[in-house]
Amino acid sequence: MKDLTRTKVKDLLRLEAGQEVLAKGWVRTKRGNKSVAFIALNDGSTINNIQIVADVENFSDELLKKITTGACIGVRGELVQSLGSGQAVEIQAREIEIFGEADPNSYPLQKKGHSMEYLRSIAHLRPRTNTFGAVLRIRHAMAFAIHKYFNDKGFVYLHTPLITASDCEGAGEMFQVTTLDMDNLPRTEEGRIDYSQDFFGKQTSLTVSGQLEGELGAMALGEIYTFGPTFRAENSNTPRHLAEFWMIEPEMAFYEIEDNMNLAEDFIKSLVRYALENCKDDLRFLNDMFDKELIERLESVVDTKFVRLTYTEGIKILEESGEKFEFPVSWGVDLQSEHERYLVEKHFRKPVIMTDYPKDIKAFYMKQNEDGKTVRGMDVLFPKIGEIIGGSERESSLAKLEARIDEIGMSRDTLGWYLDTRRFGSAPHSGFGLGFERLLLFVTGMSNIRDVIPFPRTPKNAEY
Ligand code: 4AD
Ligand code: MG
Repeated sequence: MKDLTRTKVKDLLRLEAGQEVLAKGWVRTKRGNKSVAFIALNDGSTINNIQIVADVENFSDELLKKITTGACIGVRGELVQSLGSGQAVEIQAREIEIFGEADPNSYPLQKKGHSMEYLRSIAHLRPRTNTFGAVLRIRHAMAFAIHKYFNDKGFVYLHTPLITASDCEGAGEMFQVTTLDMDNLPRTEEGRIDYSQDFFGKQTSLTVSGQLEGELGAMALGEIYTFGPTFRAENSNTPRHLAEFWMIEPEMAFYEIEDNMNLAEDFIKSLVRYALENCKDDLRFLNDMFDKELIERLESVVDTKFVRLTYTEGIKILEESGEKFEFPVSWGVDLQSEHERYLVEKHFRKPVIMTDYPKDIKAFYMKQNEDGKTVRGMDVLFPKIGEIIGGSERESSLAKLEARIDEIGMSRDTLGWYLDTRRFGSAPHSGFGLGFERLLLFVTGMSNIRDVIPFPRTPKNAEY
């Protein structure tokens, strides 16, 4: 087999019959009779398998016995037109090499469909299933499309730090980073932990958002975006929360809230369009297996103008809806997923961009409105997901920002570097954060966020 280079299954399926080829991959199934074996081979390059036809008389019993679900093999043979339905070409095997066997008595992924819960318990092997192959290829395609989108628009990809001493969202949901000896913590005279002896000489954590550093970039480079992992120690065991998730955060100088909304809407639509155009086979599979309305829903989002309304208008609709919510609504409350989904799925039946939230339920950096009560925040709310994007125009006035920092008891000192953007050459600017896995929930139609990231991190779970 050495003299022939391997062709990926995705490419094999598009080749003309009548040539010598070499395929390598994992056996999905083997069936057949006394004279011929049919092997479905997959190498992860596509949801589709290539069919291998092996005449039993040409191969030893011993070899054929090792070709079981999960085994890894190489097959050399002729690509021929397939007589069976479902595929145009197949490989008539001439030579088969076993790279790695998979004992049928212990290989956990047998032919039958497994529950998502079971697959989560074997997350190290689930990429070999059709479903996770499809999800992970779509995840890759979306990551690529995100970089392409911003690159085409002239945004600079800014790498913001993962270890930080500031809490961007001010919600106190941070994982501490320390090298102090937990069994023997150094103490100050007042009996507090002495972080001056810690690795960084101060208390540090994993970042919840790259925004604050992103703003520094925008105030120099004009338009930037970050795309990296973020961490939240919130104890939310929901199908939409991870403790480690990826976030895309564009930040733009000279953008006001309207520009920010326009970008967010165009951005999501472009990504969904990219998926529809470039992930057809995988989307079709997920549509057929999990969610019969998936492709229709994706197409409709691309064509729909998102509804824009203020928080105050939204609350009014919810109050007048006559709906019994688990969490009661009134002006000032933070919207729960059930409220967001009512607006998006029942009332408007369209994605919604909600703006102008009460200042007390939003972060310190949002631009303050004239009314003294609300801030220029915006959340994009999606069907089946709820909040997919959170963002705002930023407060560009140093005095107002300092007043707000004091009001909520944050420290001006530790944010001195951030306040310098307002002290020197301040400008109106805006940005938002798109939760990558929330986007993937929407695009793949999966119903649990644990199933759109290879190795999920959730409360009490850090396997692999
Ligand atoms: O609304 P959030 O908290 O906003 C920020 O962090 C801002 N600093 C972003 C910015 O303006 N640059 O988070 C943004 C998005 C949410 O809309 C949601 O999609 C996602 O991040 N997200 C989560 N995704 C998965 N698991 C979690 N625990 C998440 N928390 C937020
Ligand atoms: Mg938010």
